Amino acid sequence: MSIRIVGTGSTLPKKHVTNEELTRLVDTSDEWIRERTGIGGRYVSQGETVTELSASACEKALKDAGKNAEDIDLLLVATCSPETSIPCVACQVQARIGANNAVAFDVNAACAGFLFALHTVYAYMEAGIYKNALIVGAEVLSKIVDWNDRGTCILFGDGAGAVVVEHCEKDGLLGFVQHSDGRKGEVLRCDTRSLVNPFVDRPMEAPYVQMDGREVFAFAVRQVPAGVEELLQKLEMTADDVDLFVLHQANFRIIEGIAKRLKQDVNKFPVNLDRVGNMSSAAIPVLLDELNRAGRLKEGMCIVLSGFGAGLTWGACALRW
Ligand code: ACO
Repeated sequence: MSIRIVGTGSTLPKKHVTNEELTRLVDTSDEWIRERTGIGGRYVSQGETVTELSASACEKALKDAGKNAEDIDLLLVATCSPETSIPCVACQVQARIGANNAVAFDVNAACAGFLFALHTVYAYMEAGIYKNALIVGAEVLSKIVDWNDRGTCILFGDGAGAVVVEHCEKDGLLGFVQHSDGRKGEVLRCDTRSLVNPFVDRPMEAPYVQMDGREVFAFAVRQVPAGVEELLQKLEMTADDVDLFVLHQANFRIIEGIAKRLKQDVNKFPVNLDRVGNMSSAAIPVLLDELNRAGRLKEGMCIVLSGFGAGLTWGACALRW
């Protein structure tokens, strides 16, 4: 028993913001951003919510899969930027699209969130509990980014990607690995509301993304290839057996570093971060959808997905498309 992706969809906000436009907000340049990150632009919400973007991506994925919302029995949304703590985004999406037969909840593992949600669905389906799932990665990071901090505001973008997954007898998801290291949590964090009640007197902490970029960079180029190698070893495969590596889109230099460590041609690592920036948990499903719609995912291909980010969290899985 395994699972396979049978439909994809994605939705980005209408507003695209170029690097040039950011030079009017912070002391930076298109050249610096492109050279250090590979990012040329990103989509930024002017009102679109995580729930709206998610619901729209789900409707497209359902259409692509030829399924109805009522067919879905499990709906997971991976996000670290929900509009509401309660109810969870997944329940709001359920109501919007009419997935009334689904159980719905959110997963927060930052940039590895979509991947961890996919593995959760795999475990449920392996256990025979659910048969048709919708998995969404969605973010409106623009509301948790400090637009005065040139070290972070240039990196992130907003958007949502969704996949429809069903159980299958063979192939599909071949295996996965996933890891967390909470001891390194401080290198990338964002506080929610600070503790304010009549019994405490604390200063407000900055409710924005704070990042030690160099530490995050070093973590990614070390742990991601190690995780992919662990996965391939488990599956008795080598990196040469993989047709495409669909990685979290954080930074082109990170992707280049990973390709080098795996001794693979960087052309096997598709990118869209030049146009969309780093969309955290939305990055992998949006890229998958773009590749799917462009006809680049052929039946029988071996695709490795790998996500990594705050927590710290990281992991990889291999799929037979
Ligand atoms: N424009 C111009 N100059 C800048 C900018 C900017 N936007 N941001 C920082 N600088 C300056 C710094 O102030 C510093 O100046 P100084 O030397 O006078 O002090 C100089 O550039 C170098 O700064 P560094 O932080 O050392 O630059 P670095 O080459 O490490 O690049 C970056 C920074 C792009 C953030 C890099 O560390 C990186 O990509 N890290 C990975 C972080 C990441 O991808 N995070 C995404 C979230 S996590 C995830 O998705 C996995």
